[in-house]
Amino acid sequence: TYVVTENCIQCKYTDCVDVCPVDCFVEGPNFLAINPDECIDCTLCVAECPAEAIFSEDDVPANQQHFIELNARLAKVWPTITARKEPLPNADEMNGKSGKTELLVE
Ligand code: SF4
Ligand code: F3S
Repeated sequence: TYVVTENCIQCKYTDCVDVCPVDCFVEGPNFLAINPDECIDCTLCVAECPAEAIFSEDDVPANQQHFIELNARLAKVWPTITARKEPLPNADEMNGKSGKTELLVE
């Protein structure tokens, strides 16, 4: 499966959603997650993310391993998102900022 990681937080560009052939993204207030039970590993979303936040589960950076479980957990509670929408207002300022994990709103 593919995994959304820290740099999505407080950006939420949502370009990833439009290319997913199986609609496996779910949406929270300031983060998207991928439902690991539905992702078919097509890889299309990876290049679409302006924040470069999406990784194969095998390539998630060592300090972000907890995002694998986080995506699976949030996919059970957040609603599916199927169409691109406006990014969060300060997305470009927040893109690349470190320490965003503590900003995640569940
Ligand atoms: Fe959707 Fe493909 Fe990305 Fe999986 S890898 S989340 S199927 S676009
Ligand atoms: Fe997040 Fe990137 Fe999608 S910032 S919403 S994973 S395009």
